[in-house]
Amino acid sequence: MTADLETLARVFGARKSVRAFRPERVPRERLAAVFAAAQHAPSWCNTQPWRVVVTEPPRTEVVRTALVTAAKGGLPSPDVAFPMDYPEPYLSHRRACGFALYGAMGIARDDKSRRYDAWLRNYEIFDAPHLAVVAVDRRLGPYALIDIGVWLGQLLPAVTAAGLAACSMASIAAYPKVLREQLGFTAELDILFGIALGFEDQASPTNQFRTDRAPVATNVTFLA
Ligand SMILES: Cc1cc2nc3c(=O)[nH]c(=O)nc-3n(C[C@H](O)[C@H](O)[C@H](O)COP(=O)(O)O)c2cc1C
Repeated sequence: MTADLETLARVFGARKSVRAFRPERVPRERLAAVFAAAQHAPSWCNTQPWRVVVTEPPRTEVVRTALVTAAKGGLPSPDVAFPMDYPEPYLSHRRACGFALYGAMGIARDDKSRRYDAWLRNYEIFDAPHLAVVAVDRRLGPYALIDIGVWLGQLLPAVTAAGLAACSMASIAAYPKVLREQLGFTAELDILFGIALGFEDQASPTNQFRTDRAPVATNVTFLA
């Protein structure tokens, strides 16, 4: 292993989704440096299709309030359909992740009221001071979604390397109308997901668990 790969693997390994944040805002320059690092992401014909709006206080509060109102009262209507069925082995991975999260939060499996509150935390943006909302021009078709995924895969380790924390949130894409109204996304853009950004609240029980991964051989096959 080269030193560069070791460094990269350490940052990849340290990255995790954070679902409780401290209130302090992140200085604009520090956030800008993270997005500048991810800007090097490759994309189909270098089309660079990620379109991102990042909120800072006090705007984050306005969006938070609007999202909570939508989540409590509105019908979900994502621009890009959410998966409905999870065949195995994906269902087991999904359940393990949910049980670990609820376990860390001390929520029993049958406690519907606290599970609802935990779901609502998404729309409260986990109290993060910043929300990045990520959109794509739907005229580019599905390959642009791959490009966005590649970009996110570079952004998240950059967040970790900058001493910051993040949680990707497809949940907020259930209410794209609110995000269009609040953040000025134009009509050709599909809203894909949000990213809560800030400093990790390291004392929060919510942040005290790590998801696991299948052995690499489950996903990757070498053929000679
Ligand atoms: C595109 C995308 C959307 C996600 N949406 C949500 C979400 O709505 N709410 C949430 O709590 N976590 C969300 N996550 C975080 C995943 O649950 C998390 O990445 C996964 O469980 C692996 O855990 P880790 O990020 O801590 O390694 C999302 C992640 C991705 C990549």
